[in-house]
Amino acid sequence: MKKVVLITGASSGIGEATARIAAQKGYSLFVTARRVDRLEQLCAEINLKGGSALSYPADLTESTQVAELAAAALGQFGRVDVLINNAGFGRLKWLAQLDPIDDIERQIKLNLIAVAQLCRAIIPSMIQNRQGQIINVNSLAGLIGVPTYSVYAASKFGLRGFNEALRREVSDYGIKVSGVYPGGVNTEFAEHAGIERRTGIKTPDWMRLSADQVGRAIVHLIEHPKKQLILPGYMTYLVWINQVFPGLVDQLMRIGYVQREMR
Ligand SMILES: NC(=O)c1ccc[n+]([C@@H]2O[C@H](COP(=O)([O-])OP(=O)(O)OC[C@H]3O[C@@H](n4cnc5c(N)ncnc54)[C@H](OP(=O)(O)O)[C@@H]3O)[C@@H](O)[C@H]2O)c1
Repeated sequence: MKKVVLITGASSGIGEATARIAAQKGYSLFVTARRVDRLEQLCAEINLKGGSALSYPADLTESTQVAELAAAALGQFGRVDVLINNAGFGRLKWLAQLDPIDDIERQIKLNLIAVAQLCRAIIPSMIQNRQGQIINVNSLAGLIGVPTYSVYAASKFGLRGFNEALRREVSDYGIKVSGVYPGGVNTEFAEHAGIERRTGIKTPDWMRLSADQVGRAIVHLIEHPKKQLILPGYMTYLVWINQVFPGLVDQLMRIGYVQREMR
């Protein structure tokens, strides 16, 4: 029997790439996001190639729509084997420039609250089946705090805590929980981030991953679950330096970024 994979944020970027790669591997997909046209086009392409994909549009900042999404997936298949919480956005500005509702509240709602609500709705069926897998797409910003990422980091640090606690809570039911922590990825993410940097500092192109690279790593996790996956792998050293020498990283960010932006 094909595993049923529910992917949020599948209308572009990492979610869309993950859906295409998972379809090639023979998984049965239930994909969601707000842009209906993009979802329908994705499903049509997958189904035309002999895959299996259904779409269900939802705005996950609305808790009623999260509940309806979970009910629709469980109603359609009777189960969800793999839940990939990928939908998310970042508004990467100085804190005072963020709108209290559109930027602060909605980031936390989508990146953290919706994940908890969707997991809450799906997990009982996984517990009943004594198996399941949850993959939460986090970010390096969930491991390292960077200026102008404050609320995004809060949502992703929160997601990391949620991930760790949930992993321990459900492991005895045969449910695996993984966190994926990518650095910069070439997607539409930056278009929505509202970045206005005087210095023009950005992740160098050679460090940026493609959505397909991240999608392949996520699909690989379905067959080879891991607690934590940092992408690219060498970023693990940066995370380690930040943990062991936080004062040094404070100084580097002050001199290399904040002071240059303030000039
Ligand atoms: N790109 C990066 O550099 C990077 C790095 C690390 C982590 N990440 C994480 O990777 C995940 C995917 O981002 P991406 O880079 O692939 O960006 P993206 O191309 O902008 O994709 C974001 C997805 O989230 C969906 N989404 C946004 N708001 C939504 C809402 N209110 N309700 C439901 N779905 C919503 C979007 O679809 P609709 O607009 O159609 O709703 C889209 O499918 C995010 O969690 C992000 O934090 C990205």
